Amino acid sequence: MSSIDLKATQSPHILVLGMGGTIAGLAQEPKNKPLQYQAGQVSISNLLGQIQEAIPKGLTLISERLVNINSKDLSESVLTQLALTVLSSLNNQAVQGIVITHGTDTIEETGLFLQLTCGKAAQTLGKRVVLTGAMLPGNAPAADGPSNLLNAVQWASTLLENCPGGVYGVFAGKVCMAKDLAKRHGTAPNAPLMDSPTSPLNLINPSWLAGVRAAESAWREDLPVPHTDEWPWVEILTSHAGARPQTISQWLGSGVKGLVLAGSGMGGFHESWKTPLDRALASGIALVRASRTGAGLVRSDIPEKDPIGCMAAGSLSSPRARIALQLALNAAKQANLVGKPLTWQDFFARIADLPEIR
Ligand code: SIN
Repeated sequence: MSSIDLKATQSPHILVLGMGGTIAGLAQEPKNKPLQYQAGQVSISNLLGQIQEAIPKGLTLISERLVNINSKDLSESVLTQLALTVLSSLNNQAVQGIVITHGTDTIEETGLFLQLTCGKAAQTLGKRVVLTGAMLPGNAPAADGPSNLLNAVQWASTLLENCPGGVYGVFAGKVCMAKDLAKRHGTAPNAPLMDSPTSPLNLINPSWLAGVRAAESAWREDLPVPHTDEWPWVEILTSHAGARPQTISQWLGSGVKGLVLAGSGMGGFHESWKTPLDRALASGIALVRASRTGAGLVRSDIPEKDPIGCMAAGSLSSPRARIALQLALNAAKQANLVGKPLTWQDFFARIADLPEIR
């Protein structure tokens, strides 16, 4: 276990990629103030050392540090590095499965990103990519990191009959599709799964599994991973009482390529945004309408008729809609370069239409 050595990479193993987060965090006063900590302090090899005794016999783990950060600081270039590492590792015959330790703050974005760029590859190759993390730092008395990491390793290594390869999230004894990870509470122990369709790990729920199968078969082709310097600039803007036209107009001519509007209710936005949004569309800025409520569907032309070219986010939250729009803009650009007349809306619709697990 520990860092990659070439001999070990030839024999079957689970690859554990460390990215930081609270799972790798340390508190100064763990007993009295477990929530006052710094994320990204402990190395991935040390985290694996903590669960060594419990790892099933015969299973080899190899760890690799990608970064060791607080995920609030996650960058697009790190996402590129992550997807390229996952794709090349999936294609390595010696890799049986992949676990990624990640901060929970932006795991929602990484979950969708990996589904859209690596989900088909994982499914086709019959391997699992598993995101996990923790809500408490490693030295807190009730630290959840070790059990989450162990569960993630188990899920990555045991291909239960009929349970497909793909991109998953594992927390608090439960599994979900990584695209459904969503931190919807600041501190609750199961925060990343609170709002997600899940199954207990030890007794796979048949209706959840049917939902996974439906989503996986609907996802026909992975999207290209943007090169580090090719990520389109996309911002999220929230509509609220007293919203001003300048919130939109200040982006005109800025170089921004897309705006995700986190609207109120069913995705409506403030009347004062109408004129500047028309100007934004006319200047070629891509627009997606999501909802700031955090749940429910945003449908086309509801609550009002959409301006032409603007897409509704469906069930995508605004952080997910932002990743989806970036990948859709990039995919359209790549397609156009090889003469395929596809638009970002074509790609975005494929993402927003993915069936939800109920
Ligand atoms: C982070 O996202 O890196 C810090 C918070 C967490 O992991 O829970």
